[in-house]
Amino acid sequence: MQFAGKIALVTGASRGIGRAIATQLARGGADVFCTSTKEGGCAETLAAIAALPAGSGPAGSGKATALVCDVADAASVEAMAKAVLERAGKLDFLVNNAGITRDGLFLRMDAADFDAVLTTNLRGTFLTCKAFARSMAKARGGRIVNVGSVVGLTGNAGQANYAASKAGLIGLTKSLAQEFAGRGITANVVAPGFVETDMTAVLTAEVRDAMLKQIPLSRFGAADDIAHAVSFLCSEHAAYITGQTLVVDGGMTM
Ligand SMILES: NC(=O)c1ccc[n+]([C@@H]2O[C@H](COP(=O)([O-])OP(=O)(O)OC[C@H]3O[C@@H](n4cnc5c(N)ncnc54)[C@H](OP(=O)(O)O)[C@@H]3O)[C@@H](O)[C@H]2O)c1
Repeated sequence: MQFAGKIALVTGASRGIGRAIATQLARGGADVFCTSTKEGGCAETLAAIAALPAGSGPAGSGKATALVCDVADAASVEAMAKAVLERAGKLDFLVNNAGITRDGLFLRMDAADFDAVLTTNLRGTFLTCKAFARSMAKARGGRIVNVGSVVGLTGNAGQANYAASKAGLIGLTKSLAQEFAGRGITANVVAPGFVETDMTAVLTAEVRDAMLKQIPLSRFGAADDIAHAVSFLCSEHAAYITGQTLVVDGGMTM
């Protein structure tokens, strides 16, 4: 129970990587706030956490609470942060996982597609960090983990907006790491490669086969692979790591 007594927030915890992160943190004993843009969106995540061995207890796995939050909407983020701080009194782990794609080749990508992705993936993370930074600084401790992507490092044809948002996250995270190191707060990025979730389920068999050939470990990532990396960065074992991008991609971009 390495996270007993810790309070975590995972944005976009209704499914996929966010659900895996929330579940792993709860398994470690953290109480986890899980967000979705939809009322009831996190029902399956809450059920998974309640079903953990010795779940929902102060001594066993942590309990989970669902909150509605659209990270693209500043008022929604502020209301969510207020609810977390009123109910829990603090936040130890802020995991910015919510993200979207609006893929398309550059010549066909319009500004609305660019704005939508930047607004959710990058500005949304800015807003949540802003909403909790003061409280974390006052507590003189905390962990920020932002879920990026390998394409933020490599770029990707058809994902100019998404790659720009994920590259931006790295700059944002390094800046936070520098500004808040003196307050005992670490900020890092976990950059997944190809992970089996709803986000990648839309890709054609042809694209999937081509991607698999580029992965030295010969399999797609599981959401739990990413959750393990996030848990590590939240843990005491990562106390001396900040401003870093931890790539979790089966060796794809080495
Ligand atoms: N899957 C991959 O291969 C892969 C690779 C690299 C990086 N990533 C990153 O990993 C993260 C999770 O990806 P995933 O594959 O698990 O995606 P997913 O299955 O599509 O889930 C996305 C999550 O983000 C939430 N979300 C979307 N827009 C939001 C908004 N405006 N405000 C708040 N929450 C919002 C969704 O919540 P609701 O729909 O319930 O509101 C959902 O919980 C993303 O940041 C993604 O870019 C994924």
